[in-house]
Amino acid sequence: MTSLPDLAINAQALTKVYGGSQSDQAPKLALDAVDLQVPRGSLFGLLGPNGAGKSTLINIMADLVNKTSGSLSIWDYDIDKRPRQSRASIGVVPQELTFDPYFSPRQVLELQAGMYGVPPKERRTMELLETVGLFDKADAYARSLSGGMKRRLMVAKAMVHTPPILILDEPTAGVDVELRRMLWDHVLELNELGVTIVLTTHYLEEAEELCDRIAIINRGNIVACEDKPQLLNRIDSKKIVISLKQVPEKLPQQLLDFSPELTDAKTSSSGLAQLAFSYRRSESPISAILAAVAAAGLEIRDISTEESDLEDIFLQLTSSKST
Ligand SMILES: Nc1ncnc2c1ncn2[C@@H]1O[C@H](COP(=O)(O)OP(=O)(O)O)[C@@H](O)[C@H]1O
Ligand SMILES: [Mg+2]
Repeated sequence: MTSLPDLAINAQALTKVYGGSQSDQAPKLALDAVDLQVPRGSLFGLLGPNGAGKSTLINIMADLVNKTSGSLSIWDYDIDKRPRQSRASIGVVPQELTFDPYFSPRQVLELQAGMYGVPPKERRTMELLETVGLFDKADAYARSLSGGMKRRLMVAKAMVHTPPILILDEPTAGVDVELRRMLWDHVLELNELGVTIVLTTHYLEEAEELCDRIAIINRGNIVACEDKPQLLNRIDSKKIVISLKQVPEKLPQQLLDFSPELTDAKTSSSGLAQLAFSYRRSESPISAILAAVAAAGLEIRDISTEESDLEDIFLQLTSSKST
């Protein structure tokens, strides 16, 4: 028996430049020497804003885009040396839906299984349809399925050859909250069955909810790659917003030490003057801030706190990288 690889995916100095010499476009560096290791069995999130290079990375794994340089192994198969085996080890759910709208889900899966050379006896068409909750729709026109059903059909389609790795590119972009929950549950179930999952997303919430390990990609560079708890610890900034009864004429020194931002009543969201303080969660100076506000004789009308969002994290990670 051959042993299973420790890494489901291993990218080393993977680089992609679009355009350039043969085209009239200026060359675009979409992946800049990316090193990325996805442990077998993980539910791995590739998180980044639009244009970061997520789809490029996924599409190289799916053999839909050619890399410019570097190396990539899937399930220990180098994509250059063992292309057939590496392709067979991965199932990809692309960002766009791709199937003939006049086919039924059963036909879509049978056709895909045929393309992967899965013999009819080994096909699991109805089992897969059941897994994604489309058993009843096996013979409906694919075009008559709802958006969420189509997406689940895409997941089943990516699984016809029983790959040990499933990649989902922005699986819930444009999907409503309820369907998102259902898709998440399917993904978690597959992962529990032992499938290594990589999903790309630009929703921090999605990565935070689902993934056990998260890489953050920005402008073609991996700026962080950690287990979720470690990463969340780095996302350290929080904000407290204090709405005041009146605009203070002058901020006392003890408050200035916390570098507040003052918004007057006309421009604030609450219609009240607001003082916003950004601070590090690990330092938790809330009581000191509140004491300083009270000592300054300012009357508090409301208090709210905000977790940092993806934007802030990017700023934090990219600025700490360049300094
Ligand atoms: N076929 C292409 N030709 C030229 N540039 C491309 C092509 N595909 C993507 N890009 C560029 O590469 C960068 C990364 O894109 P992409 O991988 O789609 O990012 P993401 O999926 O994270 O939104 C972007 O700047 C994008 O404009
Ligand atoms: Mg994309």
